[in-house]
Amino acid sequence: MKKIAVFTSGGDSPGMNACIRAVVRTAIYRGSEVYGIYRGYEGMIEGDIKKLQSHSVSNIVQRGGTILKSARSTEFRTPQGRKKAYDMLNAHGIEGLVAIGGDGTFTGAKLFFEEYGIPTVGCPGTIDNDIFGTDYTIGFDTAVNTALEAIDKIRDTAAAHDRVFFVEVMGRDAGFIAVESGIGGGAEFVMVPETKSNLDNIVKSFKNLRKSKSSSIIVVAEGEEEGSAEMVMNKVKEQIKDKDREFKVTTLGHIQRGGNPTARDRVLASRCGMAAVEGLLAGEKNCMAGVMNQQVVYTSFADCIGKTKPLIADHLKLIEILSI
Ligand code: F6P
Repeated sequence: MKKIAVFTSGGDSPGMNACIRAVVRTAIYRGSEVYGIYRGYEGMIEGDIKKLQSHSVSNIVQRGGTILKSARSTEFRTPQGRKKAYDMLNAHGIEGLVAIGGDGTFTGAKLFFEEYGIPTVGCPGTIDNDIFGTDYTIGFDTAVNTALEAIDKIRDTAAAHDRVFFVEVMGRDAGFIAVESGIGGGAEFVMVPETKSNLDNIVKSFKNLRKSKSSSIIVVAEGEEEGSAEMVMNKVKEQIKDKDREFKVTTLGHIQRGGNPTARDRVLASRCGMAAVEGLLAGEKNCMAGVMNQQVVYTSFADCIGKTKPLIADHLKLIEILSI
């Protein structure tokens, strides 16, 4: 395989640059040419493709975002869009792809492989950590630490004013960020889409919290079925009917997607990037390179997107016990 191309797609995540760097340098080290496709599938359709050298990825290992930029392409979802993308790759002589992204990226990559057969290996790049086939995704650790830093600050002001804060963290369909930032930030409750949150129970245990606890933090995952942190707050407020208690909401939003990647994310990104190229050269295709139990593993795109990664079983109990 003489020409490999790499792209980032979907929501960016800290560590994507470290992954691009690893892909580019591993490919060159192994004697292949490597091309960057800009703006994900959009750039593939438009032929926004440039050759990368080792120096093209200098000084990016520590940077958030993605030098290749990212996009969520609607055109690639159409057969016509994918045909255009295939023609562009053909025109550049691209023989293999490394796709860095999350479930949307892999859904597209799987379909594209089935239609056109270009070998593709993915790297798990999403802050949500909701990809089966890897213990952690690239960017998750950084996002959790960003959320945690914010929760620590919110806790200071919550305690100073004896207030209850509902903090909304990202995670469209998954509660991993909520759970880990909740444990690390000492939250009283965490609400996640994976489990049905019984508001009545929350209100009941809220009333039972020891009297000395005048402030509380409730972390709400974006995908929580009871609604946004603001909606949850209003429902809880309605039931508690405590006029002396003040309730506030903070939505952390996209700050969780930016910033310099942590050491964990840089190492994971570098390992996955190298494994993706080495996998492609060894004949892997239609799969993702992830890390489970410290070992690199290749998991089919079908499983990555079709199987659900569960939350760590005892984490929610841990929060309940530690919040008394
Ligand atoms: O998938 C990562 C993620 O940050 C989700 O947590 C969030 O729901 C979504 O992307 C936001 O996407 P966008 O930046 O396109 O609004």
